[in-house]
Amino acid sequence: MSEEKKITKVPVYTPDKSYKDFRWMGDYEKIYRESVENPEKFWEGIAKELDWEKKWDNVLEWNYPDAKWFSGAKLNITCNCLDRHVNNSRKNKVALIWRGDDGSERIFTYRQLYREVMRFANGLKKLGIKKGDRICFYMPFVPEHIISILACARIGAVHTIVYAGFGAESLHQRIVNSESKLVITADVSIRRGKRIDLKSIVDEAIVNAPSVERVIVYRRTKPDIELYTEMELDYYELIKDEKPHCDPEIMDAEDPLFILYTSGTTGAPKGILHTCAGYMLGSYYSTKYVFDIKESDVHWCTADPGWITGHSYVVYGPLQAGATILFTETTPDYPDPGVWWEIVEEFGVTILYTAPTAIRMFMKFGSEWPDKYNLESLRVLGSVGEPLNPEAFEWFYRVIGKEKLPIVDTWWQTETGMHMITTLVGEPMKPGFVGKPLPGVVADVVDKTGNPVPPETAGRLVIKTPWPSMMRGIWGSREIYEKYWSEINGYYTVGDMAVKDKDGYIMIIGRADDVIIVAGHNIGTAEVESALVAHEAVAEAAVIGVPDPLKGNLIKAFLILRNGYSGSEKLANELKYHVRMTLGPISMPAEINFMETLPKTRSGKIMRRVLKAQDMGVDPGDLSTMED
Ligand code: PRX
Repeated sequence: MSEEKKITKVPVYTPDKSYKDFRWMGDYEKIYRESVENPEKFWEGIAKELDWEKKWDNVLEWNYPDAKWFSGAKLNITCNCLDRHVNNSRKNKVALIWRGDDGSERIFTYRQLYREVMRFANGLKKLGIKKGDRICFYMPFVPEHIISILACARIGAVHTIVYAGFGAESLHQRIVNSESKLVITADVSIRRGKRIDLKSIVDEAIVNAPSVERVIVYRRTKPDIELYTEMELDYYELIKDEKPHCDPEIMDAEDPLFILYTSGTTGAPKGILHTCAGYMLGSYYSTKYVFDIKESDVHWCTADPGWITGHSYVVYGPLQAGATILFTETTPDYPDPGVWWEIVEEFGVTILYTAPTAIRMFMKFGSEWPDKYNLESLRVLGSVGEPLNPEAFEWFYRVIGKEKLPIVDTWWQTETGMHMITTLVGEPMKPGFVGKPLPGVVADVVDKTGNPVPPETAGRLVIKTPWPSMMRGIWGSREIYEKYWSEINGYYTVGDMAVKDKDGYIMIIGRADDVIIVAGHNIGTAEVESALVAHEAVAEAAVIGVPDPLKGNLIKAFLILRNGYSGSEKLANELKYHVRMTLGPISMPAEINFMETLPKTRSGKIMRRVLKAQDMGVDPGDLSTMED
């Protein structure tokens, strides 16, 4: 598992001297050492920056592999996102700027956002939604999405947000697994001037989902779409008489806050469970210290709230920090490839947090687009979701950062809830490396027995000790949860391969498991394979990820057809469409190959690595377990 990995000499960039004064929280080495020598003191110090209904009895109760953080505490995360700003000088400060696909704008001060959240929270209560009930979201990039997430948290219900690019089957699985009582959706999402129907996908997804009692529909386009049954309610109809105040549900530290599904190595998506106090702390801490966020910042995280990045860095982190969120439905190339940079100039964006796949797309469009705009408001750039390859780093640094802005390349996961390993503002940056662990995070690169591998040797990335925003479980599967902590010496094992350099900077090499990252989205090979074999023509399927300069990886599928079917371009297109409709466009294979056989182990497991090696024309490695 561990093999030598020579690191070619990389340039080291130190941000402009003028950035010294926002140099993070002080001396990294010293703070890091103190944080791991006395983690409870460290995390308690952060917790004291937040508002609590009642303080904790204990900082950490660690009963491997289960953690309880801040037990005894009482809180509601929305009090830190809203009430504490509304109760002080931020009352009339802009909390949320929304820009639609067509350039329209909506702006909410903290006071206005608070009132909208409270009205919707009261509406949810009127429907009988209680603490602990699950609410599934299938929403576009609109303010009502953020408002309804916060309203859900306000009353102690558990949100499970599904990215609105997923297909009906993916949505159905998540609604059924979480046993959601309510689904919140909109008539359409609007992308590149086109309306994409969401409601009909929900209609299909709730068939045979007996837990669903109601569907709330935000009708944003005219004429209003019809609501057919008693089950369906209009968003604004629901809240029209509701009061703009709603007492927070007082939550215990370890009460669930949300479930968010992520692709696993088996067929079914895993419902990652996060709880109230620890997640509140992690999202606040990382937003504040990684982005060096200040009240005066306009924070633009381009992620969809349906991903963990949207949860932590569109919604909860920046609002707890009292910053202004920019939230937009705008795609990077519509109406033209300069639109993001126009938005940066127009709204004075100060922090831009995006994904390598977007950066690579902008490289392809050319520097002339950002060069047309004044980007001087920017002061911190961030990247997340997949390796930021050195070429993309260089472009981001030169063209957008004007060779002076810090780039924080943040490594983390749905499961971790917050940034774990990252370059920090003011610290030297090395293209291709995500940096060092955040204070409080004990990350290492180890061999399969858990021993640290020497520098410049590839190994498995692990986290050795608990942290507040760690997932608390998998909804409905204790076994999968335990597996995370039992694979390597009792450490949290993350599924990534990594390498450290002599200075302790970590480079992420790729996944060690069967998850493919396409344009920053995790896709489980098993999910795509089971969608393919659900088609009547397919007997067996294997999918692999192959490198792509724009999206990081592309999905290639290798299929054995059932008797009576033969491979053709028409069938390949039909199968791609079938996956698109079942799982959504991000999971659609880019290429389909029809095969006579698939390489398998003697026990019948498909050897995807052999397919991958063949496809890339490299040595497939050990074939001793392969059947003849
Ligand atoms: O493989 C790593 C990759 O994304 C995985 C986590 O995916 P997900 O749970 O969807 O969360 C994505 C947003 C946090 C990781 O196991 N990954 C995430 N950030 C980086 C990364 N790979 C390289 N560099 C990163 N900065």
